[in-house]
Amino acid sequence: MKLSTVILAAGQGTRMKSSLPKVLHKLLGQPMAWYALQAARQLSQEKPVMVIGYGADQVRDALGNQAEYVIQEQLLGTGHAVMQAEPLLNGISDLVLVIYADMPLLTGETLAKLVDQAQLYRGPLTMLTVTTDEARGFGRILRDASGQVRGIVEEAQATPEQLDIHELNPGVYCFRASWLWPALKRIPLSPKGEYYLTDLVGLAVDDGYQVASMSVADPNEVIGINSRVHLAQAETLLRTRINRQWMLAGVTMIDPTNTYIEPEITLGQDTILWPGTYLHGRTHIGAGCVIGPNTIITDTEVGDACTLLASVLECAEVEDHVEMGPYCHLRKGAHLSTGVHMGNFGEVKNSTLGPGAKMGHFSYMGDAQVGADVNIGAGTITCNFDGEHKNPTEIGEGAFIGSDTMLVAPVKVGAGAKTGAGAVVTRDIPPHSLAVGVPARVIKELKK
Ligand code: UD1
Ligand code: CA
Repeated sequence: MKLSTVILAAGQGTRMKSSLPKVLHKLLGQPMAWYALQAARQLSQEKPVMVIGYGADQVRDALGNQAEYVIQEQLLGTGHAVMQAEPLLNGISDLVLVIYADMPLLTGETLAKLVDQAQLYRGPLTMLTVTTDEARGFGRILRDASGQVRGIVEEAQATPEQLDIHELNPGVYCFRASWLWPALKRIPLSPKGEYYLTDLVGLAVDDGYQVASMSVADPNEVIGINSRVHLAQAETLLRTRINRQWMLAGVTMIDPTNTYIEPEITLGQDTILWPGTYLHGRTHIGAGCVIGPNTIITDTEVGDACTLLASVLECAEVEDHVEMGPYCHLRKGAHLSTGVHMGNFGEVKNSTLGPGAKMGHFSYMGDAQVGADVNIGAGTITCNFDGEHKNPTEIGEGAFIGSDTMLVAPVKVGAGAKTGAGAVVTRDIPPHSLAVGVPARVIKELKK
């Protein structure tokens, strides 16, 4: 049976007190709505249809082609919101799953179970319920003496007895499409002037059907976000879930409550994460690494058996057995080959350090190609910017750069060459020669 998903995301989220639409507030680096899109993607190849309204352009720009969009011009309630998806979906699918964009902890696994149940069941609607002592402002599930679902009553309209019901409506439903589309038009206008999707439960019962329900095992999955307090709570739960998955997969965390791993990160077995480790974006870390404490890594590939201490890495590539830190900074295009050692206060930008290269103390390599086994002395700097252009530096294999050398680019240092401490290199140095002074001059040939 063909399934489509409708994600409701038109609301403003007044209680966020924000100029940003609620569904774009981020949890672990991704907008809230991204999590609903991910869960939907686990169920079907079809692009979900997202109903947007408040801040529609901003939402569409942020989420791009991950969804099809329909605009709900006036926010006339959840039933009215689903109605907006009909032109895109009527006649296309057999089942329609409805979820909210502000419920980021809901998993694809739970939705898959709900859809499985809906496929087995011949009635028009299968819904999720949750039983918990925290009412959260959710609608209450009404059942008859035989335990059949009879309807949903909104908290605002509930009697004191109904308020006592602990089975709640998270707002997640799987409908038979052939029943849904015409039924939406039968929803009466509520006293508040809205069309409630929840009224479909009563309508199905009136039509003589049984409404199927599935209880969600973990009430945390259906936490809805209405304020920044909820946002922080949800982020903590999400982080706990992600960290737990990695620990079960063989990653050690010294303090999981102080370790921040975004959803698209991957980590190898026996890697150890110290507190204050932040792994952002599309970062992939190999096996047997030691990361942190206090290390921030964004969109970076790290190989196996690396030690990265108190450093910041952005859009970089680090091969195996690299040692770095404390206080190193890799910027865009930094590439450290196998066995590179970077000591304290090193910065590398748009440069490759060859296998086994060493850069122990206070150095900057920008727009440089550094050969294998080069030793870069303390305080060495590529002067790569002349005020107008970025210029390249090349350092040949096995060269030894003396402390405090200024490499005024564009410039080449040949393989096996040496510079004296404090040299200011303005012209190319041939291989296997020693250059010293300001400006640096070759004073001797070296033995190979
Ligand atoms: C709804 C349910 C309630 C349930 C609760 C769970 C109804 C009438 N009530 O109430 O039973 O317990 O969710 O969270 O459905 N939205 C639109 N367009 C609209 C209105 C809402 O897209 O016109 C979207 C919102 O952006 C939000 C979701 O639908 O993502 C839920 O809307 P909200 O107003 O929060 O519904 P509740 O009053 O919480
Ligand atoms: Ca809500």
